Amino acid sequence: MNYATSRVRPGTLAHDFLAPVFAQFPLEVVSAQGVWLLNSKGERVLDLYGGHAVAALGYGHPGWTEALAKQTQSCNFQTNAVPMQIRARAAERLVRFSKLDFTSVFFVNSGAEANENALKLAFRLTSRPHIAAVEGGFHGRTAAAGAVTWGAQQKWYGFPRTPFDVSFIPRRDVPAIAAHVTDETAAVIVEPVQGLAGAVDLGAPFLEALRRRCDEVGALLIFDEVQCGVGRTGYPFAANLYGIMPDMLTAAKALGNGFPCAALLTAAKVSAALQVESLGTTFGGGPMACAVMEAVIEAIESQNLLEHVRRVAAYIRESCIVGPVTGHQGAGFLTGLRTSRPAKQIQAELLECGILTGTASDTHVLRLLPPFILEEQHVDMLRDALADLPG
Ligand SMILES: Cc1ncc(COP(=O)(O)O)c(C=O)c1O
Repeated sequence: MNYATSRVRPGTLAHDFLAPVFAQFPLEVVSAQGVWLLNSKGERVLDLYGGHAVAALGYGHPGWTEALAKQTQSCNFQTNAVPMQIRARAAERLVRFSKLDFTSVFFVNSGAEANENALKLAFRLTSRPHIAAVEGGFHGRTAAAGAVTWGAQQKWYGFPRTPFDVSFIPRRDVPAIAAHVTDETAAVIVEPVQGLAGAVDLGAPFLEALRRRCDEVGALLIFDEVQCGVGRTGYPFAANLYGIMPDMLTAAKALGNGFPCAALLTAAKVSAALQVESLGTTFGGGPMACAVMEAVIEAIESQNLLEHVRRVAAYIRESCIVGPVTGHQGAGFLTGLRTSRPAKQIQAELLECGILTGTASDTHVLRLLPPFILEEQHVDMLRDALADLPG
């Protein structure tokens, strides 16, 4: 079954009015608990895809559910112009969780919106015309975020032109950086571990060289941690894993565990330029989003999930190089399993065995983005299923 071309429609509806823009998994989910999905046939499916890196705490997490329910009852919404303790608390909690020197948080609704605002601030601060991005990177589907996404213009960009100059640095190519990052460059935007590309860890030498070059020429460094951040690597952010302090960092996906929310964190030199009306949003930083962000961080910390992710990710790497899997890449629970055959075939075969996985733009990478509560016993199920597949 080729997911890219199939359109499996929910069985009970006569018409499907949804825009047909997403390839559909041959699986209809009716409920979920922990790391398990229940499909419309009443079968359990082990979720190693996590709603595309979103379901960090899994499904039905009691702390998350209670925080959201309590906030809906106490106050479901107030605009950013009205001070609320929950909003101030969520910002402080996120900065403290990051263990990085950020001084401000701007809450928004999606990863693309966070990146869009980061890029806007970079232009405003530097008055320069150019952004450097990295080959293979994905940053979202809006005008600016799409402009810095590798391959977007050939595939889906849609706008008549990009709103600024962009060039793409080859991955891990330290000598190439100087030609791309110059005194015309406002910012470098990079996913430290590229997600859609197939869990491609860009590595400390390349990321450190980006930091050095940005400092040399006065450009800003933006880490897009929409997919790899908020504990997924087994560290608060990949910035912690590599020991690099970016000037801005964007987070989303796992941050809300399914409630739409995102954040742009800024270091002092960027925060200093923020003033009333610099940025804006209606829904970003709404009290329900803030309550769930606080609950997500509370759960990661109180359940010791960072250490847990590091341990179980190491177990995946040591036990799952079997059957059609020939190697691994990535970091923590953003793991790519390299496959000897097209990963889509293996994804389909695993789904037949009741295991949901992801693929990537690299056709020979099976991508795992499981909830952080995944246990070794679940990894054993994956290992056994892979071991039974032809190599
Ligand atoms: C690294 C990265 N940046 C940005 C985005 C865009 O996020 P959103 O879909 O929330 O706009 C994604 C989404 O997959 C992503 O993986």
